[in-house]
Amino acid sequence: MPKLSVNVDHIATIREARKCREPDPVAAAVLAELAGANGITVHLREDRRHIQERDVKILRQTISTKLNLEMAPTPEMVQFAIDSLPDMVTLVPESREELTTEGGLNVAAKVNELEKVTSSLKIHHIYVSCFIDPEIEQIKAAKKAGASCVEFHTGSYCNAFDYGEDDMAWQMELDKIEKMAQMAVKSGLEVNAGHGLNYQNVHYIAAIPEIQELSIGHSIISRASLLGMNQSVKDMLGILEKTTSQASTVI
Ligand code: PXP
Repeated sequence: MPKLSVNVDHIATIREARKCREPDPVAAAVLAELAGANGITVHLREDRRHIQERDVKILRQTISTKLNLEMAPTPEMVQFAIDSLPDMVTLVPESREELTTEGGLNVAAKVNELEKVTSSLKIHHIYVSCFIDPEIEQIKAAKKAGASCVEFHTGSYCNAFDYGEDDMAWQMELDKIEKMAQMAVKSGLEVNAGHGLNYQNVHYIAAIPEIQELSIGHSIISRASLLGMNQSVKDMLGILEKTTSQASTVI
């Protein structure tokens, strides 16, 4: 069964709407862990629209699972990661205009630059992943740049699935993710996945045996706003468990 890292950015989004103290993403992270999450993810964006530096620092001292910091590969962020020492950094592209991370990082376009970033992080024992589109050239580039892991952007699959496109459309996206996951593992990379995954579309992705971890934010936090964090994390873990036990029965 893939591990579940819960992204708590949107708890901070609510807090920042009032620029006050509540709700605290640190409290949300602790509740997610108590419900069984295997890790916590936060994205410290350049414009600090949700997660703040203070959140990452307190999370580092508070959570007992795995802290994954999503960040742009900039000198400022690299220094922040070295100072705060998350267990893992996921390098993501960033544009101020976007509502959320819209595509994968174009690693192939800047392998040398990213190689410097990954080595600076790895010296400090930070595990490095690159958030990429599921494409061969990006996988090869991530390996060349020294990443240990890739996180596949699942947005195209999720959009095709959620907006009721015909089966062919989302099946094609799913097949691509599956094939590329096999390629990535063959080239010595670990594979994670995320973006747009929800309670309806996650099971096909969870059934891909090469995928080790899912990073899920929006759908879990949305459900948590109505049903609570404990219930929402448990519901997601229940789907992951059921999917993988069914997959192994078929084999
Ligand atoms: N993975 C990465 C790299 C992301 O940038 C995001 C969004 O912050 C996610 C996963 C989670 O996406 P969602 O909020 O749609 O579950």
